[in-house]
Amino acid sequence: MVSVLPFTIFSLLYISVNAAVTWTATPFNPHAVPLAVRSPYLSAWLAQGSGTQLNDAWPTFWTGSTLGWAGYVRVDETAYLFMGTSGVTGTQKAVQKSLNWTSSQSTFVMTAGGVDLTANFLSPVDPTDLVSQSLPFSYLAVTAASNDGKSHSVQVYSDISAEWISGDVALTANWNTSTGDVLTHRVQLANQSTYAEVGDHVQYGSAYYSTLNANGVTYQSGEDAVVRAQFVGNGALLNTQDTTFRAVQDRWPVFGFARDLGTVNAATDAVLFSIGHVRDPAIKYIVAGGATQDRSLYFWSQYGTVDEAIADFLADYGNALSAANTFDAKVQSDASKVSANYADIVALSIRQSLAAFELTISKAGDGSWNTSDVMMFMKEISSDGNTNTVDVLYPAWPVLLYTNPELGKYALLPLLAYQTSGQYPNQWSVHDIAGAHYPQAIGHNDGKDEAMPVEECGNMLIMALSYTQKTGDQSLIKTYYSLLDQWTQFLITDSLIPADQLSTDDFAGTLANQTNLAIKGIVGIKAMSMIADLMGDSSRVNNYSSIASSYVEQFTQFATSTSGHHLTLAYGNESSWSLAYNLYADKLLNTQLFSDSVYQMQDSWYSNVGNTYGVPLDTRHTYTKSDWQIWTAAISTTTQTRNLFIDSVHKYASDGADNIPFGDWYETTTGQSEGFRARPVVGGHLALMVLNSTGTTGSSTPGGSTTGEPDASGAGRPSPRNVALLMLWSIILGMFGFLVPL
Ligand SMILES: *[C@@H]1O[C@H](CO)[C@@H](O)[C@H](O)[C@H]1NC(C)=O
Ligand SMILES: *[C@@H]1O[C@H](CO)[C@@H](O)[C@H](O)[C@H]1NC(C)=O
Ligand SMILES: *[C@@H]1O[C@H](CO)[C@@H](O)[C@H](O)[C@H]1NC(C)=O
Ligand SMILES: *[C@@H]1O[C@H](CO)[C@@H](O)[C@H](O)[C@H]1NC(C)=O
Ligand SMILES: *[C@@H]1O[C@H](CO)[C@@H](O)[C@H](O)[C@H]1NC(C)=O
Ligand SMILES: *[C@@H]1O[C@H](CO)[C@@H](O)[C@H](O)[C@H]1NC(C)=O
Ligand SMILES: *[C@@H]1O[C@H](CO)[C@@H](O)[C@H](O)[C@H]1NC(C)=O
Ligand SMILES: *[C@@H]1O[C@H](CO)[C@@H](O)[C@H](O)[C@H]1NC(C)=O
Repeated sequence: MVSVLPFTIFSLLYISVNAAVTWTATPFNPHAVPLAVRSPYLSAWLAQGSGTQLNDAWPTFWTGSTLGWAGYVRVDETAYLFMGTSGVTGTQKAVQKSLNWTSSQSTFVMTAGGVDLTANFLSPVDPTDLVSQSLPFSYLAVTAASNDGKSHSVQVYSDISAEWISGDVALTANWNTSTGDVLTHRVQLANQSTYAEVGDHVQYGSAYYSTLNANGVTYQSGEDAVVRAQFVGNGALLNTQDTTFRAVQDRWPVFGFARDLGTVNAATDAVLFSIGHVRDPAIKYIVAGGATQDRSLYFWSQYGTVDEAIADFLADYGNALSAANTFDAKVQSDASKVSANYADIVALSIRQSLAAFELTISKAGDGSWNTSDVMMFMKEISSDGNTNTVDVLYPAWPVLLYTNPELGKYALLPLLAYQTSGQYPNQWSVHDIAGAHYPQAIGHNDGKDEAMPVEECGNMLIMALSYTQKTGDQSLIKTYYSLLDQWTQFLITDSLIPADQLSTDDFAGTLANQTNLAIKGIVGIKAMSMIADLMGDSSRVNNYSSIASSYVEQFTQFATSTSGHHLTLAYGNESSWSLAYNLYADKLLNTQLFSDSVYQMQDSWYSNVGNTYGVPLDTRHTYTKSDWQIWTAAISTTTQTRNLFIDSVHKYASDGADNIPFGDWYETTTGQSEGFRARPVVGGHLALMVLNSTGTTGSSTPGGSTTGEPDASGAGRPSPRNVALLMLWSIILGMFGFLVPL
């Protein structure tokens, strides 16, 4: 990752604490509420702060720029605004009664006169069904019910603006509305720039706003004030299209739907909308000889057109909702075994993390989709937009292990295949494969990527072994054995005495002899010994294992303060210390390198050095990272220290003092965000849910072997969402145990 970007400025825009929150929030009002969060380019939030109703602000892209998404409900001819801040004369504001959110859903109840409107935003999380998981669509389902025992005449309206298609509202858009069983407004830039971004919005592809063509549905595109006033005055739209294509901001064209629900008393069926952003190709990826390959989202293997995908997505809502309820309940139940606060953190992290990833396939020579060639790409959102940044994938890793470890393979493959192609010149692992920025993955053939040599070599070895232990699939370590061994040579030379270099926490600058980096490198060497064991390469097993053990012995001398109270931040700097979060890998892989006494020493040290919002990352600053605190919590030897970390992150996430999607870098003294937002690393908040899982233990002694798990992936046999598969997956997840330290 590269340090601080222009977004820091947003974090300075603190919103004042609003004492007048009148709704119930379950579990709490987060800094930003996820609305439609499915991909790097479909990322809509309600910047919430301590108290912003769904109709107090416009939804925003993760950067903070506005995404026009409006909602009105008309009750007995009085129109109430329930989403966005458009102000059509003569309308009232619905009053927010509640907000609740889970891992995949955010639900608002808004009172509009005699009717309560429930707006459920569902961003499906379906990691074992690659077709479903790769569909960049999200649902908004609106139901109405009388709140006063009387019947009311009710019409519901919603629209989007063209702000969903570009980071530059001066650019010209065009659009079209298709009618049939499904009504779809499709909007795009007139001048598309493949693989380009402006303000982190992608500059090609289309936004799609759709609804089922049920009884009483009407549509209209046109200037915002005109279309909304049409609904407010009449409760229906004109079924007309504005064909004067123009700039996004020129008399703001909006794309609306209305639905007349007739007379309402008991809760109605949902008025269902889907919002999506689709581009094709999705990723430009470097292959052998400097050539590049255009890759497409996985769902194309199942659908010939976006319209077909949307029709299925809408038709599947009932299944999607029950699958989401099952998934959310499973996560809640698993995470609650640690603590209620922990469950809240996890629920707020899952959508955000997975939405940074995109599943892709390539085309075979004959033009057919090659579903054997699955690769997953990740945008390093907010901290610089790189592609598959190794030291961002690494902190996010637990969410992949928990939801579907196969995803881990798909994320590692682009990195492994590129570096095996011989085009990357350095002996250590590449930092990322962007070239410039997402959605490009064109490599760094000049070797001038941001160097984090020990960090990335250790990360790759740890993730490769972790994947293998979890799944029993040895394909990665078999195919890329010599590359993994090459990185091990680098670690053998450089990890005991790490040169002056960056770690993943690059905003803190370079430092020689970083203790935490040495831990990672040494675990990486032992990981290669265990990989060699699985491959039956006994000479490497013993050699690397004894090198790792001897390094640990020397390391303990170098890294322990003379007081014997803590590990230092850097060898020999007595007063320094840091979160030794890389010890997590020792537990995850069961490398058994570090003695219990090291864990105990660190635990009692942390328990004395916490500030109001947590334990600093290290002694150079008072800021910290939420992901690394949770990793450290996962290896705590006492419930007290574990909860110190968890409760601190919870305090930051729930303090109402900011309005950005979950930030992972913040100040421990004030809780102030340092600028990172919406990053995939919050997937690391699942760290406690994947330790000690079935298949994790691997072989702790030479000659042992891992017990694999069945391949739960939908790869190669995509099917529509399937309840049986979901149940199987739940059972598999249920087999995962927990590390709940004493
Ligand atoms: C959240 O809201 C939905 C819709 O009102 C409701 O069905 C669900 O029970 C609520 N969950 C919680 C935890 O309040
Ligand atoms: C919408 O697009 C279709 C297909 O390109 C075209 O036939 C139709 O004329 C368009 N309609 C409008 C109103 O632009
Ligand atoms: C289209 O966009 C490209 C890149 O942003 C720009 O160079 C070009 O001038 C634009 N073309 C038109 C016709 O606006
Ligand atoms: C599909 O992809 C796999 C994995 O990259 C590759 O081995 C295979 O040759 C490809 N098949 C075709 C028909 O291109
Ligand atoms: C790193 O630590 C080793 C072992 O303590 C020491 O010999 C060396 O001088 C240190 N290097 C730096 C740059 O501090
Ligand atoms: C052990 O590995 C190191 C580093 O690759 C190598 O230099 C050494 O020769 C190996 N020793 C044996 C006995 O294989
Ligand atoms: C020791 O670490 C502290 C930060 O904890 C730093 O301010 C100081 O400069 C370091 N001392 C040396 C000699 O490197
Ligand atoms: C979990 O790990 C701990 C510490 O390594 C070990 O004592 C325990 O037996 C493990 N539990 C399972 C179920 O693997």
